[in-house]
Amino acid sequence: MKIVIGNDHTGVEMKNAIVKYLIDHKYEVINLGTDSNAAVDYPDLGQAVGARVIQEKDTFGIVICGTGIGISMAANKVKGVRAALCAETILAKLAREHNNANVLALGARVIANQNAIWIVETFLNTSFDANRHGFRVDKLNTL
Ligand code: RB5
Repeated sequence: MKIVIGNDHTGVEMKNAIVKYLIDHKYEVINLGTDSNAAVDYPDLGQAVGARVIQEKDTFGIVICGTGIGISMAANKVKGVRAALCAETILAKLAREHNNANVLALGARVIANQNAIWIVETFLNTSFDANRHGFRVDKLNTL
């Protein structure tokens, strides 16, 4: 599976920890940056990751900013993106099962890197329960 990841300057360290986890677990990773501590704007990265997730099949996105809020808002502007900001593994599990989230948003100033890795692991290992929740996600996609 392919994972597109993008972050602003607050998320470089967390991104690097997640990329290491992903590579160790044989995921294909597309890193859209930033890899620098110089300030960049979270809307640019959220939009770029969202667009790439929609372009390519079987792809999930991960976006990181200070809170995860701004970059999730940006990703959700892309038609077809369902980005979920998760600070606990239970949110990642339910975002996949109930909402068929295709982008995971994380706050680098809010949670520890190890927690972020557990959240990523949960997100990537949970399937959408289409039988129970498909009709609501279909409705969401028409908005
Ligand atoms: C950048 O300082 C900060 O505003 C950004 O990372 C994010 O938290 C926005 O939602």
